[in-house]
Amino acid sequence: MSVPLISLADQNEIPQIGLGLWQVKDENEFKTAFDSAIEFGYRHFDTAQFYRNEQMLGNSWKNSGLKREELYITTKIAFTNFGQNQVHESFKESLEKLQTDYVDLLLLHFPVPVLRKKAWLALEEIQKAGGAKSIGVSNYTIKHLEEMNSYKNTKPVINQVELHVFLQQPELIAYCSKNNIQAEAYSPLARAHVMDNAVVTKIAQKYNKTYAQIMLRFLIDQGLVIIPKSVTPSRIKENIDIFDFQLDAEDLSKLKSQDQNKHFLWSGTRIP
Ligand SMILES: NC(=O)c1ccc[n+]([C@@H]2O[C@H](COP(=O)([O-])OP(=O)(O)OC[C@H]3O[C@@H](n4cnc5c(N)ncnc54)[C@H](OP(=O)(O)O)[C@@H]3O)[C@@H](O)[C@H]2O)c1
Repeated sequence: MSVPLISLADQNEIPQIGLGLWQVKDENEFKTAFDSAIEFGYRHFDTAQFYRNEQMLGNSWKNSGLKREELYITTKIAFTNFGQNQVHESFKESLEKLQTDYVDLLLLHFPVPVLRKKAWLALEEIQKAGGAKSIGVSNYTIKHLEEMNSYKNTKPVINQVELHVFLQQPELIAYCSKNNIQAEAYSPLARAHVMDNAVVTKIAQKYNKTYAQIMLRFLIDQGLVIIPKSVTPSRIKENIDIFDFQLDAEDLSKLKSQDQNKHFLWSGTRIP
């Protein structure tokens, strides 16, 4: 089953599922996860300067025998590198570690107060110079996205935020959709913190799928891009094996009713 591609506002396409790589720090664990992901059909990988594994991703893809254009690589500028020059310098280092001369998607990792404006202008320069095919943001609220209208020349095509059954952020998703910004769901499994919700369990039984697969399909059926993380080959396979079924309207609405507005990570709402 092939992975759908989602068209972005800049005409580029992003595979609807990618492998999340946060907290994958061990070289062997990384290699196993990467090789399994490739075997099971992933081509999209989500790293960041903050994850300290860009070098591992560079080594892994170089060893894979795949051509660069067969892969979709995202990285993110760490909040400590938001000065305009630092964005450029740190991004140069990212490219060296990733062993490539461009990334498919470059994001600002957080809406860092004051500095985020200049950091965005630096991302626009990087895109113009060919260093990033697409540019976007992460952890931005509606307020931060609205503010961008006062300084951006190019709009972000992606906003990567925490989204799962227990944190659905309907207003933010509607805003993104209206403004042609693709919402990308991080922590789509709610970091595996809630694996016993009765509604999800019952729906999983009905479709003969796993709990995790229902959590992920819920997001896919809303047109979101997802980046579940796993270092376990059987789970890496399980998480991509979700493109042969669809949740019906009744089950989608049952899952929608499970929203608890619960952040398991940071929330941009507290950032001025
Ligand atoms: N932009 C941001 O600020 C931001 C923040 C957080 C995350 N992210 C990105 O989003 C990615 C995913 O988010 P996340 O890592 O926070 O959480 P997640 O993907 O929701 O959950 C990962 C956890 O779920 C477990 N897991 C994976 N598949 C499973 C399955 N089929 N059944 C049961 N458990 C399963 C993993 O364990 P094992 O690995 O042991 O299998 C791991 O403990 C990150 O890796 C990162 O790339 C971005």
